This record gives sequence, C-alpha cells and structure tokens, in this order.
Amino acid sequence: MTEYTDYSLFSHNTFKMDVKTARFIEYNTEDELCGFLSEGGLQHPYLHIGGGSNLLFLSDYPGLILHSAIKGVETVGETDAWIELRVGSGMIWDDFVAYAVEHGWYGAENLSLIPGEVGASAVQNIGAYGVEAKDLIVSVDAVEAATGRKRRFSNGECRYAYRDSIFKKELKGQYFVTHVTYRLSKLPVYHLDYGNVRAELEKEGLEPTLAHVRRVIISIRRDKLPDPEVTGNAGSFFMNPIVPESQFDALRAEYPDMPCYPLGENRVKVPAGWLIDRCGWKGKSLGRAAVHDRQALVLVNRGGATGHDVLRLADEVARSVKEKFGIAICPEVNVIG
Ligand code: EPU
Repeated sequence: MTEYTDYSLFSHNTFKMDVKTARFIEYNTEDELCGFLSEGGLQHPYLHIGGGSNLLFLSDYPGLILHSAIKGVETVGETDAWIELRVGSGMIWDDFVAYAVEHGWYGAENLSLIPGEVGASAVQNIGAYGVEAKDLIVSVDAVEAATGRKRRFSNGECRYAYRDSIFKKELKGQYFVTHVTYRLSKLPVYHLDYGNVRAELEKEGLEPTLAHVRRVIISIRRDKLPDPEVTGNAGSFFMNPIVPESQFDALRAEYPDMPCYPLGENRVKVPAGWLIDRCGWKGKSLGRAAVHDRQALVLVNRGGATGHDVLRLADEVARSVKEKFGIAICPEVNVIG
C-alpha cells in the first residue's frame, strides 16, 4: 500500500482539474485493502476513484481518496463456448478489451477505448454501441468499507440499469470493487447495428472480425470524442434522458428528425447530444469551459477551467434544454465538492 499526503489529483482526473487531496492511498491487493479497513483505517470523508474519467472536482478534496492498483486476469471458468475471466479492478479497461480481442474472445470489443478502469466498469455499467458492461459481468467482488469484509455480488444483485448499479445507489460508497468476473464468448457474436458501426466496416471494406470491429469503434470514438490527454473532458457529461412515449410523440410532431431509442414499456431514450446541439450549444464556450464541437454531449476544459466553470456551463446547457424541450437532463459525471 502506498500513501501520500497533500497529493495532486491532476493525473487522476481526465477533466484535468488542478486539485489536491489531503490523503491518497493506493493498494495493490485485496488483502491489503481488507487489512486497512478492518483495522479501522478509513477516515471520513473518503472517496474511491478509478481512472478519474467520470469525475468533476470542484475544489481540493479534504479527506482520503483510495485507488485500486489490483491488476491481473485469471481464468476462472471455461467451456468450448465461453470463458470466464476474473480481472483486477485497477486494470485499465481498454487494456482488458485489447487482451480479449487478441485472444479471440467476443463481447467487449464494442466497448473499446472507453477510458477508465475495470472496477468502474462494474459500478458505472459503462456502455457504447449497443453493449453494456452488465451484458458481460458474471459477478463483482468487493470489500465493505466499514468492516473490511469481502462480498461477492451476482450480476442480479448489482441491479444494473442504464449507467447505474447498486454501487451508485443503495450501497453508494459502502463497497470497494476489487475484481470483476466477465464471461466472454468463444463463438462469434457481433453487435453491429448500433449507430454507424456496420456502415463504417463496409466503408473501409472490412469483414466483421473482432480486430476490425475494435478498429472501427476506435476510429468512430476518436473522430467524435476529444482525447483527454489533449483536451480535458469526462466523456458524456449528461445521461441520455428517458421520457414517456406520449411526451416523445408530442415532441416528434414538432421536431420530426428527433432521434430516439425505444426502450419498451412506453419509454423512449432521447440523445441528450441532439437536444443540446439543437439548442445551439455545439462548440460554444462559457469562460474556459466549452461544449465539444463534434459531440455536444461532451463538455471540455479549454485549459485552466475550474470545476465551477464546467458546472456553470452544464447548468446553462441543462436550463436551455429544459426550456426548449421540457426535458430535464442529468449529469452522468460525478460532481465532487
Ligand atoms: N447527436 C447530434 N449532435 C451531437 C451529438 C449527437 O445530433 O452533437 C445525435 C447523433 O447524430 C445521433 C444521436 O444524437 O443521432 C446519438 O449520438 P451518439 O451516437 O454520438 O451517442 P450518444 O447517445 O450521444 C451514447 C453514450 C456514449 C457512447 C455512445 C455510443 C451516453 C450518456 N453516452 O452517446 O458514451 O459512446 O452512445 O454508444 O449514454 C460516455 O458515456 O462517456 C460515452 C461517450
């Protein structure tokens, strides 16, 4: 376990906020974490972070920030049809996707290049191009913050929903994820019908193979989403709102090109990026924070922005979407402070 005091979080948040934490602890094994917690080492307030790709810090953090450096991939089950892998929560998510693709295992390739770490994939239920982490997760191993006791959560117990899980709701802050077990298919299964994945493969003249799907997803993401190494951002700032079908039908009468993803049970998911774009925000700045010029759902740090600058922009954006469409949009990003 490594401990730092008065520690800079600049390289631990992709928004590139220049803030510090009073105390920072990185642990390398589940036992190290259990020992620390069972001996009552936890100090309040505390926060567990992954890659910091979904966080907006408003100020210095006055307490303890924990980070997992648990790495490694272990095969825990296998048949001719699938393989189950137990993966350390501190592994970079995209390294895991690359590993799966190299081994010829299907399931994670549509989630290529999503920033962040394996632990967060299970908390946040990351998703892209028609696939969500919950489709692959068998179980999640976590440690209880208050006691240091280990607990395994089945997929069902995680109560997964769109960008949501029990770890963000009922058990928020109460468990730290140490390992995630995923089941990947050894038989080809592709999800090409979301957005322009199939069209891009065809345009490039590529057969659908694991490596080609990964390549195309990476190129679509690079085209639309800013590289956090160059421009601070946290991916989609808002979640796509879910509205009743009746409200959507009324809006569609006025805006016939409004896209949607029907969810069943009279509910429709509407792309917040489209709503924000239609409010004229794409590429617009407010001080040192801006709406990305190629994907309006992404807010960026133009350099030297504070968390409050980004939050002010987010509030303005949400207010204009509410005013024009009557739809409330909520941050996907976790605002700290
Ligand atoms: N759109 C616009 N203008 C924009 C942005 C989008 O008109 O500025 C329209 C697009 O033309 C399209 C629709 O909105 O018709 C949806 O856009 P896109 O396919 O880019 O996806 P999204 O719904 O905006 C979601 C995820 C992304 C994920 C993509 C692809 C959320 C909050 N975001 O974005 O996830 O990569 O789908 O599956 O669900 C993230 O969570 O950080 C993230 C990047």
